[in-house]
Amino acid sequence: MNAFDQLTTESTIHRSVYTSPTVYAAELEQIWKRTWLLAGHEAELPAPGSFKTTLLGDQPVIVVRDQSGGLRVLLNSCRHRGALVCRDKAGTKARFQCLYHAWSYGLDGTLLGITDAAGYVTPLSKADLGLWALPRVETYRGIIFASFDPEARPLLEHLGPAARAHLDDVFSTDDIEVIGLAEYEYRGNWKLHPENTIDGYHPRFLHRIVGQTGSFSVGQALDLERGHGVLAWKNALKSPSAEENTAVATNGRINRAMVVFPNMALVNINDFINLRMVIPLAHDRTQISALALGFRSDSPELRRRRATQLAAFQGPAGIAGADDVELFEAAQEGFAANAPAIGWLDISRGLGRAPGTEDLEDETAVRGYYREWRRLMQ
Ligand code: FES
Ligand code: FE
Repeated sequence: MNAFDQLTTESTIHRSVYTSPTVYAAELEQIWKRTWLLAGHEAELPAPGSFKTTLLGDQPVIVVRDQSGGLRVLLNSCRHRGALVCRDKAGTKARFQCLYHAWSYGLDGTLLGITDAAGYVTPLSKADLGLWALPRVETYRGIIFASFDPEARPLLEHLGPAARAHLDDVFSTDDIEVIGLAEYEYRGNWKLHPENTIDGYHPRFLHRIVGQTGSFSVGQALDLERGHGVLAWKNALKSPSAEENTAVATNGRINRAMVVFPNMALVNINDFINLRMVIPLAHDRTQISALALGFRSDSPELRRRRATQLAAFQGPAGIAGADDVELFEAAQEGFAANAPAIGWLDISRGLGRAPGTEDLEDETAVRGYYREWRRLMQ
């Protein structure tokens, strides 16, 4: 096998990037353990004791708001014999208690109690046996990011000005609320999801409703640097009322499908705000956790519309979401075809176009994503 960073170039991706367990194992170390990762949104953790459990790469974690309101990301593994200390998906707790021998931990990961501690002839040091906390946790516009690397560059720098400007636009106020959640799995590589989110070439063909309405045409595919990218376009899918369509068209509202490298996708089309987290399960298996978000100031009608759109449009059974899941599995099955002459796949669409003249259907943002992938896989 080539060195990992030689498995993609500016215009190509080698199939093994999707099919090789060796590449996948290297990604877990070189990407997932080193860069900033989406861990959730503050709206999921409204009060002290609010928590959720998830995976960052292959690492089980608890994302929790501690007693003083701070955010922690703790490895979900008991310091006694390693079992999960929290098996619930989400909720509110005063402490985490391991089911095996009932050691208990505080919301900040401190070991609070060892059951029958007198049984230890050589006493254990509670202070050294807290849950391991990820060294870096920061938020931007309420979006929670964490890193396993104490040396990771500051989050603001990782996001960069271009990506931040798009996030500022979508999350213009801080009264965000969670109004829906969809979780689903597909039999395909984890990178298929983010690269598809910023692939403006496919909607006309894979999602035929988009082709029929011609609503996805005027816009750009932009490389936002550091691996992030966005498709930005005007008024895509029609709103329910003609009045609103006019409003959207005249105020020039921008719709976006955006990726923050490596595991965050944000789709904002008309009323719909969908924050998706990519969870790799194996080189050929992935879980997506998709939040529908809104604002507490929304009218009941607007809230209903935002929630419905997750189910009807972008969710796993929605008119666009279901197509994409079919595609992820068809792509992964197709990748198995393996002859030396067909090893390299093409991402050159629009390559060489002058900056500022990018087309919505160019593969500009996908190339940017893999540039960051290459940098980290060196
Ligand atoms: Fe958690 Fe024993 S493994 S208390
Ligand atoms: Fe799609």
